[in-house]
Amino acid sequence: MNDVGRKPPPVDLEGFRLRRFLDTLGPEELVRHDAPVDLADVAGALEGNPRAVLFSRAGPQGAEMCANVLASRKRMALAFGTTPQGLLAEVLRRLKTPPEIIEVCREAAPVQQVVLQGDDADLTALPVHLQHRHDGAPYISASIDFALDPATGWTNVGIRRLMLRGRRKAGVDLTVPSDLRAILEAYTRRGEPLPVAFVIGSHPADYVAATMRLPVDELGLVASLRGAPLPVVKCISNDIRVPADAEYVLEGCIDTQSPPEPEGPYGEFLGYYGEVKRNPFFRLTAITRRSDALFQAATISGRSLHHTDTAQLNALRVEAVAMSALETAVRGVQGVYATAATGGSFHVRVALRQRVPGEARNAIAAVMGCLANVKHVFVVDPDIDIFSDQQIEWALATRFQADRDLVVQSGYRAMPLDPSVAGERTWAKAGFDLTLPFLTAGQSRPISLCVPEPPRYQGGRRASLEAALAEGPKYFEELMAATGSRDGREIVLQLDALEGLERDAEGRYFLK
Ligand SMILES: Cc1cc2nc3c(=O)[nH]c(=O)nc-3n(C[C@H](O)[C@H](O)[C@H](O)COP(=O)(O)O)c2cc1C
Repeated sequence: MNDVGRKPPPVDLEGFRLRRFLDTLGPEELVRHDAPVDLADVAGALEGNPRAVLFSRAGPQGAEMCANVLASRKRMALAFGTTPQGLLAEVLRRLKTPPEIIEVCREAAPVQQVVLQGDDADLTALPVHLQHRHDGAPYISASIDFALDPATGWTNVGIRRLMLRGRRKAGVDLTVPSDLRAILEAYTRRGEPLPVAFVIGSHPADYVAATMRLPVDELGLVASLRGAPLPVVKCISNDIRVPADAEYVLEGCIDTQSPPEPEGPYGEFLGYYGEVKRNPFFRLTAITRRSDALFQAATISGRSLHHTDTAQLNALRVEAVAMSALETAVRGVQGVYATAATGGSFHVRVALRQRVPGEARNAIAAVMGCLANVKHVFVVDPDIDIFSDQQIEWALATRFQADRDLVVQSGYRAMPLDPSVAGERTWAKAGFDLTLPFLTAGQSRPISLCVPEPPRYQGGRRASLEAALAEGPKYFEELMAATGSRDGREIVLQLDALEGLERDAEGRYFLK
C-alpha cells in the first residue's frame, strides 16, 4: 500500500496519563488532601494507608504529588480493567500481545512541555520527602529508569530509587544483579558514563512493565502491558526514548568512573532497613515535565507491607514468573498468588489440580527454583481460595503433616535483607504440600474429606419416603429433596416409624 500522504497514526497522549487513572478512583480508593502539606508530614499520611493519596499542594513549591497509587491489588486490577483475582491472567494475556510504539515529535510530547536545564534543573526543587526515620536522605521512589543496552540497542526498563545528594546528584541502588547493572558494567569497561532517563509519574501498567526482566526491548513491554500503542519521545539530552505522556523525566548519566559512594540506609521492601551500601550516583542534566505535572512517590517499608506499592508490584511480577515456571513443570495449575504482606516475593500460593500423586512437589520445586527471592511455597487443592488468608490457614492446619508434607531445602542464594539469614550467604526454602490425600480414578472422596456446606435440596420432587429409599441409599438432605420437604422434622418422624431402616458407612439411609 502507498503510504504517501497518509496521516501519522493517531496516538492517545492523555488516556494513559497518571492523572487520568487517579480521576477514575472513587473516595474509597483515593484520599485527596487539598490543604497545603509540609513534606515532613507526607510519610505519616501514607503509613499503613490502604488508599492512594493525592496532595494538591505539597512543600513550599505547592507541588502536586500522589503516592500509594499501586499499593492495593484492587487498584492495580482497576488499572488493567479487571478484578484482583483476574489480574495475573490479564497481565499474562497482555504480555503476549505484540507491542506498537509510536514516536511523537518533541513539540507534541506532553512530558516535554517544560524543559529545565543548567541551574534550572534542580532535584531538590521536586517534592521528595523523607520516607522513613533512618533513611539517609529523602528518596525519589517511583522512578522508572530507561537506558539503552549497547549490546542489543534495546531499551532496558526498571525501577530504581534515587537518594537526593544535591541539586544535580543522586545515589542509585545498583547492588542487586539486574540488567541495568550489567549495562552499567559494560559502560564502565568502556570508560563512559551511562546515559539514563528516570520517568516519575506514569500509568500503573508502566510500573508493572518496569518490574519485569525479560530478554526483549522493554519499551515494547510497556506498550504490551498498556494494551495500546505507546507514544514515545526522545529525551532532549540523549537518545533514550521515554513515554511521551509521562509526568516528569530526569535526564542524565550514571557516573561509571568515580568511586562508588555511600547510599542508604533505606527502609526496604521486607520491612527492615537496608544498610549503607556503596553505589554509583546519577548526575542530572535536564528535567522535562508536563506544565501541570503530577509527581509520584512509591511506598515501600514499615509494618504494613501489603499497603505498599513495592510489595504489590513485586507480587505481580513473582506470580508471572512462577506461572511460567509452573507451566513447564506441571499441568492443572488453577491459580498463583504471591502475598503482598511478605513484601511480595517470599510466600507464593499455588492452586493445583493434581493429575497424579506427587505433582504438588513438582510445583513446589518449580516455584522454589524460579526466583531467588521466593522462600516458602504453599500448594493447595483447587477448592481452597488462594487469595484468602483464612482458607490457607485452615488448609495448613488440617491438610498438612509436618513430617510428611514439608519440603525443606538449604544452600540457596540468600536474600540478605531477610534478618533471619543472620549474615549467611545461603538460606533455606520450604514447600508446604497442603493438598488432601490423592484419590485415584474411580475412588470417591470419603465423607471425612468432604467440606460441609449448606444443603442444596437439588432435584426437588414429591415422592413418598419409601419410594425415595427404594431408589438406593440417601443422605437426609436427599430424602428432603426427594419428598419435597421444606422442613425436615417430619422426615425424622417418618424414618422413626419405618421397619428395616439401616445406615451405611457414610450415614446414608436405606431399606434392608
Ligand atoms: C518500587 C520498586 C523499587 C525498586 N527499587 C530498586 C532499586 O532501588 N534498586 C534495584 O536494584 N532494584 C529495585 N527494584 C527492583 C527492580 O526494579 C527490578 O528487579 C527490575 O526488574 C530490574 O530491571 P532490569 O533487570 O531490567 O534492570 C525496585 C522494584 C520496585 C517495584
